[in-house]
Amino acid sequence: MITAVYPGSFDPVTLGHFDIIKRASYLFDRVVIGVLNNSSKKQALFSKEERVIMLEETVAELPNVFVRSFDGLVVDFAREQDAHIIVRGLRAMGDFDIELQMAQSNHIVAPDVDTLFLSTSVEYSYLSSSMVKEYAYYGANVKDFVPANVLPKIEEKIHLMKVN
Ligand code: PNS
Repeated sequence: MITAVYPGSFDPVTLGHFDIIKRASYLFDRVVIGVLNNSSKKQALFSKEERVIMLEETVAELPNVFVRSFDGLVVDFAREQDAHIIVRGLRAMGDFDIELQMAQSNHIVAPDVDTLFLSTSVEYSYLSSSMVKEYAYYGANVKDFVPANVLPKIEEKIHLMKVN
């Protein structure tokens, strides 16, 4: 039974994330998505609980994919889940430096855990959660960027932000 974890902020999950999740679900027996608050990013738009619910809806069709939230180190989360593999998507060279640094330092801290990179499918190579939030904030339709279940939630959240 090979388990992999796929950690990230997922604020919100995009079609690019979902593509990586689906491909990981074909490669591994069990994939556990780990949702966290990334301390190096500004305040998240969605709470961790909201992000977990959105992801659970998104992956409902994939029986070997599970969603959890965590705090602390990703390598500790991997060990808690009995996983020796961390999956990360690589979009372009911009991602490479920081992802390589994280993979290498994680492997020093936890030699039993390795990071496997999946190259993002070309059609999603430009896509990021921050970009989705910016387009949605200024009123653009983000239906081509996020899973269908996420669309009304992002519209509602942005609306609430603007009226408050
Ligand atoms: O979706 P993100 O925000 O790019 O994901 C970043 C993530 C979760 C991979 C990274 O911030 C992370 O692993 N955070 C947990 C804390 C940790 O393990 N730090 C050591 C590696 S820098």
